[in-house]
Amino acid sequence: RGKRAFIAGVADDNGYGWAIAKSLAAAGAEILVGTWVPALNIFETSLRRGKFDESRVLPDGSLMEITKVYPLDAVFDSLEDVPEDIKTNKRYAGSSKWTVSEVAESVKEDFGSIDILVHSLANGPEVTKPLLETTRRGYLAAISASSYSYVSLLKHFLPIMNPGMYLVSRGSSISLTYIASERIIPGYGGGMSSAKAALESDTRVLAFEAGRKQKVRVNTVSAGPLRSRAAKAIGFIDMMIDYSLANAPLQKELSADEVGNTAAFLASPLASAITGAVIYVDNGLNAMGVGV
Ligand code: NAI
Repeated sequence: RGKRAFIAGVADDNGYGWAIAKSLAAAGAEILVGTWVPALNIFETSLRRGKFDESRVLPDGSLMEITKVYPLDAVFDSLEDVPEDIKTNKRYAGSSKWTVSEVAESVKEDFGSIDILVHSLANGPEVTKPLLETTRRGYLAAISASSYSYVSLLKHFLPIMNPGMYLVSRGSSISLTYIASERIIPGYGGGMSSAKAALESDTRVLAFEAGRKQKVRVNTVSAGPLRSRAAKAIGFIDMMIDYSLANAPLQKELSADEVGNTAAFLASPLASAITGAVIYVDNGLNAMGVGV
């Protein structure tokens, strides 16, 4: 049977989540997505009206099918965690069962199991502020939405992830990180650099725990700059793309598909011995010591 993937963090056709969904679909996987509750309406409407049809085209000419879109807010683990003002918020009240544990429960009810879990989401309300000017609240919000959201997703989905047989694990989990976790990238503020450092460290620890418990592999892709919705909100994305073009070993703009294809590789048996790894998909920019 083909594999089934749940991709958290798809709300348009411009980000890495969409590209990963396409690469997995092209490789034969069934696609489920988790969409941030406030973005759900417009995403589903656009999907239905065919606004994404051009970007749904797969290499064989067919269109990517998304079997089901789940509303998701990855900063809440269960209904008890949701404050009153969110519960009654107009954009949230129209949907239900969007906390992490409830989404995992719904996917279990609908499909029984998944093989691939993708975390392609981040949020740092103070991302435009330098770390020295970041508030405790902003810092913790960045960690909650961008790092713990992954721990929580894996924790709740792991019991329904297929462990596979013999030596080859079938279950695999992937997140997206950024080199600002390990090198200074001025402008990536608000504790987002800290959040990515936590995500990468957690990738190693979770690889051990999920590997021992369920033979599930856990890796993260350190991606180069892409003009996604989230990246445009940071404000320095064009500069980062230009910097990469000028300085990376490969002088070409990074395409989201290149990250998607790496995710498909990591989720495949071709990567059966790869776990706990940070894989760079950045035209090699991470290997440079100085700008040229
Ligand atoms: P994107 O805007 O396509 O994806 C971010 C998604 O996160 C959006 O769909 C947004 O609705 C969702 N989201 C935010 N808060 C959420 C919450 N509480 N619950 C559920 N969903 C929530 O942007 P992009 O850039 O493709 O981001 C995907 C991942 O790639 C992120 O982890 C990002 O940090 C990472 N990345 C992006 C780079 C870039 O240059 N765009 C570079 C390296 C990593």
